[in-house]
Amino acid sequence: MSTAVVQYDLDGEIGILCIDNPPVNALSHAVRAGIMAALDQARVDASRLLLVVCAGRTFIAGADIAEFGKAPQEPGLPAVIAAVENFPKPVLAALHGNALGGGLEVALAAHYRCAAPDTRLGLPEVNLGLLPGAGGTQRLPRLVGVEPALDMMTGGAPIAASHALELGLLDHLLEGTDVRSAALGYGRQLLARGAVARPTGARILAAPLTADFFDNYRAAIARKSRGLIAPGYIVELVEFACRHDIDRGQALERERFIECRNSPQSAALRHVFFAERACAKLTGIPVNTRAVPVKTVAVIGAGTMGGGIAMCFASAGIPVTLVETSRENLDRGLAVVRKNYDTSVRRGRYSQQQVDAILANITGTTEYADIAGVDLVIEAVFENMAVKQEVFRTLDATCKADCILATNTSYLDVNAIAAATGRPQQVVGAHFFSPANVMKLLEVVRAEQTAPEVLLTFMQLAKTIGKIAVAVGVCHGFVGNRMLKGYARQAQLLLLEGASPEQVDGAMEAWGMAMGPLAVGDLAGLDIGYRSRRDQGLESRSAKESALADTLVEMERLGQKSGAGYYRYDPATRARHPDPQVAALIEDIAARWQVSRRAISDDEIVDRLTLALINEGAAILAEGIAARPGDVDIVYLNGYGFPKWRGGPMFHADSLGLATVVDKLGALRELTADPCWEPAPLLVELAGEGRTLASISR
Ligand code: 3HC
Ligand code: NAI
Repeated sequence: MSTAVVQYDLDGEIGILCIDNPPVNALSHAVRAGIMAALDQARVDASRLLLVVCAGRTFIAGADIAEFGKAPQEPGLPAVIAAVENFPKPVLAALHGNALGGGLEVALAAHYRCAAPDTRLGLPEVNLGLLPGAGGTQRLPRLVGVEPALDMMTGGAPIAASHALELGLLDHLLEGTDVRSAALGYGRQLLARGAVARPTGARILAAPLTADFFDNYRAAIARKSRGLIAPGYIVELVEFACRHDIDRGQALERERFIECRNSPQSAALRHVFFAERACAKLTGIPVNTRAVPVKTVAVIGAGTMGGGIAMCFASAGIPVTLVETSRENLDRGLAVVRKNYDTSVRRGRYSQQQVDAILANITGTTEYADIAGVDLVIEAVFENMAVKQEVFRTLDATCKADCILATNTSYLDVNAIAAATGRPQQVVGAHFFSPANVMKLLEVVRAEQTAPEVLLTFMQLAKTIGKIAVAVGVCHGFVGNRMLKGYARQAQLLLLEGASPEQVDGAMEAWGMAMGPLAVGDLAGLDIGYRSRRDQGLESRSAKESALADTLVEMERLGQKSGAGYYRYDPATRARHPDPQVAALIEDIAARWQVSRRAISDDEIVDRLTLALINEGAAILAEGIAARPGDVDIVYLNGYGFPKWRGGPMFHADSLGLATVVDKLGALRELTADPCWEPAPLLVELAGEGRTLASISR
């Protein structure tokens, strides 16, 4: 017996080192120390082979991420791993669940590896802005070859045990459900075969056949790794492993790892890891709240969103009925759904057989009576309060009493929609993003009377259909679209003040946004905002910040779908090109609104757009519309293309320092006299106390 989190026992000729550090057996300091103590014991006892196993639901899922950023404590992971690899008796690692990061690195240092068939093996450090820092970049290629190792480390996705066996990463797949006893059996076989210690690090790694392999690989991953430092280092380290021994390789790896670990982008990505997990936890609901089962679903409206939402459920194996006003609309909606699935078959995402099974989960009807027995209804009809309330009255009269009624409204008051029913506690907002079958984000809108079990059900259901759900309160645009308003407005003002569409988009894309604001407008369709302004009773071109967009729509420049918007689009490639006609139009509108034009720097563009997000985000937090700053970040990262490695707008505010943020806002307020720059009181308060937004996390 060593420590509570690591136990050591002798079973005949096999010493068993068992790690028991729930929930995921992360390699905390106590685990590392425990492994060292168990190795000392095993070194001198009668054992002839050492088996490393884990208790609970998984093998080691990696280093303890919560320890990064704190003072390191000896023994460090590289020392533990060296002790495993240099152990004089054969070491067998038996994996189950997930063997990830430092966990897989422990297994790589073992001399033999076996696993339960459903194990997933990976080096996902890159997702945390890191590279494998305990020998992974040096040992993985020595076991599986250069290219598969690079793919696993730069991609970060885990692989299945069967694939790992093919690659030579595993020696054996275990049978049965008892990993420990199956591994003991395999260990005895190894001893019977005369197995000896065989350090992975001693292997010689053959260099790839072509001299330009590594340069080509770097070029191939350049787009995906835009802005990140770790992927380039991973390629460098594997290239180094082809030329040098493991000791030199590990020394360089350590240096690069520490640089990555101390980088702002790794701090941001670690924040994202914990924020994603925190946002799944609802605040302010009784602890005994239970989700209710959802076995059947109906979606009202088979338009852009309804069809996509139906696909989410059907793909997850949940039967869904689409309801439309006419057979014609229904057929049109179903045809789009089928076309989308055909595309996924063509791209190899699904087989035809899988798609046939998924499509069998979707039925259509024009009769509300057909959905009387479903567990959940999601309404996705036109964005119009009267239409939505009418639909909810019908649902209330038709659906069983405990049916959950959700609305996909983008902006409307969910309380007013709930009030159209006699069961407001069953009504919730479910704001999917377009295209609904692709976008990960789901804002779950908590109305005044939404029951806790309804909220919890939706949060859990979101996970089932592969979404990242964030609970938000009721306000115009909820979290994401409300923040987008100020951001988009700044983009328009910058155009009038002297920037070009390509400069605004270029600056934001260089900063890390997936797409600049104007290109996003063109992609979504400029008519959406135009219609929404008209529905709000705003006259066309009546505001400075919408004059350009209104004019473009009235010129039938709706964006990509009409071949032109802020840009002109190549019909074949969809590549965007600056359009002199738009440049002239901008100058015209600026003159009409008496906006004097000047040279605008890229820094000003980035500052104004990100500060607009930060200021509104802070107001949202103060109002309790989002529970935690991390929740706001998760919305922006998953719904609006904000760069993950910047952590989200709220994390970015903390990185800048709230005092700096308040100063910048104040300066803009003075310069422009625009009330939008009045610093949010929460920012002023926290900055005054020298605190961060993160400090208000619940
Ligand atoms: N360190 C610290 N905490 C961790 C952790 C880790 N490596 N992995 C998971 N946790 C925590 C989570 O924060 C969560 O805590 P909470 O309950 O308080 O919210 C809890 O464990 C359960 O995690 P999940 O909710 O994610 O559980 P799932 O079952 O959905 O997923 C998992 C399990 C696939 C293991 C997932 O947690 C995961 O991907 N973990 C991270 C794996 C990883 O990135 N490893 C590499 C770490 S870096 C490293 O090893 C560096 C090395 O090269 C030196
Ligand atoms: P859409 O116009 O593409 O589809 C609406 C569909 O609802 C049409 O097919 C229409 O025939 C049908 N419909 C209208 N009244 C109906 C009724 N009483 N019963 C059954 N069907 C009815 O609209 P879209 O874009 O799908 O939007 C739907 C909702 O989703 C709106 O509330 C919108 O704000 C919201 N939303 C839209 C997003 C987008 O990007 N399009 C993104 C997120 C939310």
